[in-house]
Amino acid sequence: MQKQTPLFDALKNYHKTEIVSFDVPGHKKRFQNEFSDYIGHKIIELDTNSMKELDILNNPTGVIREAHQLMAHAYSADEAFFLVNGTTSGIQTMVMSACNPGDKIILPRNVHKSAINALILSGATPVYIEPEVDEILGISLGVSIEKIKEAVKKDSDIKAVFIINPTYYGAVSDLKEIIKFCHKNEIIVLVDEAHGAHFPFHDSFPENATALGADMSAISIHKTGGSLTQSSVLLLNTGMIDPQRVKMMLNLTQTTSASYLLMTSLDVARKTLVTEGEKIFTDLLDMISKFREELNSIPGIKCFKSILSDKLYDFDKTKIGINLNGLGLTGFEGYDILREKYNIQMELADTHNILGIASIGDIWEDYQKLIDALKEMAYDYKGDNQTIDFNELESPELIVSPRDAFYSETESIPLLAAIGRVSGESIMVYPPGIPLLIQGERITKDLIDHIYFLKEQKAVITGMNDKTLNNISILKGEYR
Ligand SMILES: Cc1ncc(COP(=O)(O)O)c(C=O)c1O
Repeated sequence: MQKQTPLFDALKNYHKTEIVSFDVPGHKKRFQNEFSDYIGHKIIELDTNSMKELDILNNPTGVIREAHQLMAHAYSADEAFFLVNGTTSGIQTMVMSACNPGDKIILPRNVHKSAINALILSGATPVYIEPEVDEILGISLGVSIEKIKEAVKKDSDIKAVFIINPTYYGAVSDLKEIIKFCHKNEIIVLVDEAHGAHFPFHDSFPENATALGADMSAISIHKTGGSLTQSSVLLLNTGMIDPQRVKMMLNLTQTTSASYLLMTSLDVARKTLVTEGEKIFTDLLDMISKFREELNSIPGIKCFKSILSDKLYDFDKTKIGINLNGLGLTGFEGYDILREKYNIQMELADTHNILGIASIGDIWEDYQKLIDALKEMAYDYKGDNQTIDFNELESPELIVSPRDAFYSETESIPLLAAIGRVSGESIMVYPPGIPLLIQGERITKDLIDHIYFLKEQKAVITGMNDKTLNNISILKGEYR
């Protein structure tokens, strides 16, 4: 079954038939230009709109439906839906499917900005919980079941829980117990699995959310599964969530002209993952293990897992976190040196670390280049950054819901004058796009100090309307 690619086959058949085209797209599969001359003419020939034999994403009944069913089976879910606007639209759909305006949803503070935007769209009220933190690495981990139980005990009115599985750094929570507890309390479990699309395809990976019984999960197959950028999948286990409502929300968040290039890349990626994933990931895990060993023998460099804390439930080995404290470099500096001097692009940097994503397309030569670069850096730089501890930052207090803050009147004032006021914008360090401050939260002095530090480190700060990063948007009026 999983060897089939119904959508890809239909697209190839369509390509063979020389249909006279009086529909969109306007290039009519024929009009080539320097873009397609460079990329290859097939991109234009295969770029089509929906039609009978190719089905339609907004109401699939043919080949897309078949491709959805194969995808659902691959991830042990009841239903799957292709997403052409990334996991971002999957997260919006999940939250809007589970929550009506005012419904309470528990989420860890280190959620991706798409989850905060989903709160604005849905009108759901966030109940933030603190993720576990590894003090040595200065990174947030997963969430403990105790914190969820505590939040539910304080507030019996919780509609849903939102979990990240795994986090950007690869931390995995005890999803099985979380799902058991939530379902016992009639709470819906939604999972951001943007970084876990590879989980079902090797025994060494943690189990994926829908296989464990989560109600919904959104996976970025484009991140670790080999499909084209922007192509993701939404998974559903029916029971607590009405599939009709999910379809309605998908039609709110998705285009009516879904790209067949993106969708077909999902169909084929699924086949490869199921039929060849075990071999691909066995080879990858061997490379990663050899790479970790070599890195950990370089003085001043620590490659995660060797030092991840006991607060971690499980770990995705394909996330290669490298701590640079022993070189006296911040992650931001290391990230820039690797790019500028060695032509190596890492996925993200933070105060202490850099992170690389290991995936389906890796070859050993690339790992060797990173090892050589880090060896040279260990020779060039020495120091001890252990004293920088910025994860002490306390979570700001939520004063106004993200949606109400989004629709409130705001004004822009200097950073230092904003201490004590309520923020009118969400501020992220990007990547990984995790909010430092969310609109509707109280601005503290520690937070402003941290923004100054990040500016000094030349970290990429996004979300602030003032591009000089000197002024911050606050809600007009007094909020006690
Ligand atoms: C944790 C997390 N969730 C969601 C997303 C959004 O995924 P996508 O880029 O597929 O829209 C990202 C993207 O980086 C992410 O890191």
